[in-house]
Amino acid sequence: MPKDFSTMEDSNRSSNRSIHDVSSPARRTVLRGGLGALTGGLLAPLAGVTALGGSLAGCATAGGGAPLLGFKSVPAGTADAVVVPEGYVAQTLAAWGEPAGLSGEEHAFRFDAGNTAAQQETQLGMHHDGIHWFRHPLTPDSSSAGLLVMNHEYADDGLLHTDGMKTWNAQKVRKSQAAHGVSVIEVEQKNGRWEIVSPSPWARRITAYTPVAVSGPAAGHALMRTAADASGRRVLGTLNNCASGITPWGTYLTCEENFIFYFKGPDEPDAHQRRWGLRKGDPVGYRWHEHDERFDATKHPNEINRFGWVVEIDPYDASSTPVKRTALGRAAHEGATVAVTKDKRAVVYMGEDARFEYIYKFVSRDAIRPGGAKANAELLDHGTLYVARFEPDGKGRWIPLVHGQGPLTAASGFGDQGEVVVKTRQASDLLGGTKMDRPEWIDIDTQGWVYCTLTNNSNRGGANMPAADAANPRASNTMGHIIRWKEADDFDGLAFEWNHFVLAGDPANERAEARGNVKGDAFGCPDGLWTDARGVLWIQTDMSTSAMGKGDLARLGNNAMLAADPRTGEVRRFLVGPVGCEITGATASPDGRTMFINIQHPGESPSERSDPDNPRRFSNWPDRRADGRPRSATVAIRKADGGVVGT
Ligand code: FEO
Ligand code: CA
Ligand code: CA
Ligand code: CA
Repeated sequence: MPKDFSTMEDSNRSSNRSIHDVSSPARRTVLRGGLGALTGGLLAPLAGVTALGGSLAGCATAGGGAPLLGFKSVPAGTADAVVVPEGYVAQTLAAWGEPAGLSGEEHAFRFDAGNTAAQQETQLGMHHDGIHWFRHPLTPDSSSAGLLVMNHEYADDGLLHTDGMKTWNAQKVRKSQAAHGVSVIEVEQKNGRWEIVSPSPWARRITAYTPVAVSGPAAGHALMRTAADASGRRVLGTLNNCASGITPWGTYLTCEENFIFYFKGPDEPDAHQRRWGLRKGDPVGYRWHEHDERFDATKHPNEINRFGWVVEIDPYDASSTPVKRTALGRAAHEGATVAVTKDKRAVVYMGEDARFEYIYKFVSRDAIRPGGAKANAELLDHGTLYVARFEPDGKGRWIPLVHGQGPLTAASGFGDQGEVVVKTRQASDLLGGTKMDRPEWIDIDTQGWVYCTLTNNSNRGGANMPAADAANPRASNTMGHIIRWKEADDFDGLAFEWNHFVLAGDPANERAEARGNVKGDAFGCPDGLWTDARGVLWIQTDMSTSAMGKGDLARLGNNAMLAADPRTGEVRRFLVGPVGCEITGATASPDGRTMFINIQHPGESPSERSDPDNPRRFSNWPDRRADGRPRSATVAIRKADGGVVGT
């Protein structure tokens, strides 16, 4: 949704039988056999996992002397194009509306946005965000064939329908919901170009109405039960899927971010509803509640509690049911990044992207078992959730969110662990977690430093707002920063040391607080963050379209992706996106020779709304057709000489 609808930024759903129907029994049998072979090793790199600190500590490339960054910097710019360094090529691969796994004219994208809800259910959703490469089940060593799994954060209904939102009906709600969620696509490289494979037995759309199971302490809880689901264990859909994560057992973690903005609120929201941002009256932007009453919180107050979770998906089984893992806590979840302890337990780092919210980690009780998704089906249901507290002396600690410990008792309104996780924000308030400047993505470098982008917080230090503190040191933080910490001993440690990797900013800014300390190319509002196999830290920016080109952001041009060397702190601009977009999500083929990134909301206007009467007014990327409309898309980036991206 346009960012001013949400007060924070942007936000977004679907399911589909028809794609599943193309899976042939023969190929499914091969898949199962292939998977068994793939998951024989405990941490077989099914998912192309590169950020498992435990497995990468001591990685040979990390301490070596060779320069990590080998490309020539791209200047800041405002072109309606994806600009990459000399010697690189960028190819649009998977735009909104392209068939996710079905071929034929009846599934083709219609540039007048005339596709039906049922067609959208089989096509890529809108507003791509987190993405990851999963090794191909049949050819796991291949770097020219694999699965891409990606999020579709939200839908711009002004662009999604031929007449925008001038008229509104149940079919449009259904299409909007179908444009949300997650896509699993099979891709292959042929003659130097990447293509979506159709049909594919793995291709799948998960939408805002796909049945999703609930597990962990909130499953079946009174706060999770609704008129439509007396069990409290079966939710329709996942939505506003922002950043994502992968697990060493070969599953994808999709994160529900700004869910609250889909709900109509009562005239006087109660304390719980207010703490989660539910507003009186109609949501700004979305109108789902008019034709799907579960989004009317005046009628179904518990439905809001069924969103804001990390959802686990097995991309190798298109018939599998996604699972909301409530042990990981409820939040406006940005991402979920997995590390592994020396004794093979999973640690999931998570940021909550909202002003003055928190950074979390979950430590599993049990060790990861060989055998892939099925063998680890309950791993994320048992463990301990912690909130981060950053002390002024460069030290920090993790505070457990455990019912019965400290203030988390019935006397304080927490009846059990289910209530603690549904009310994660309230629990963290009581425990004294550090209120951060909008934690977005988290990733881990080859030396075990954990990095988190804090995208911006112009309210920091404002009237009746938390003041600047050691971890969030700038009042009116329009430029954002990247904090990092290293755990004592192992990823499950309760203490850590922290510092700032960089304070973003433009040295030419008038306001001292907006200059930062970037070594290299200036940038603002870091959001996406990804460490590649060589240890390069890739930073993607999301300056809001309404602020872009003005004030502190005046000279930074369109949103960009930069590469950083964690050893030296050097930051170099690698890519500039088209007009009105943000850059978000990054992954690569196992050989590192193709990088896949997502361009989200090209053509978003300065008012952060689209113009349904003139969809090409701000951008006509990527199609540049006379009858086109801007489309979020995955872009495949390669070196023309076939080398590793970034070298
Ligand atoms: Fe959806 Fe916080 O970015
Ligand atoms: Ca976004
Ligand atoms: Ca983001
Ligand atoms: Ca953002």
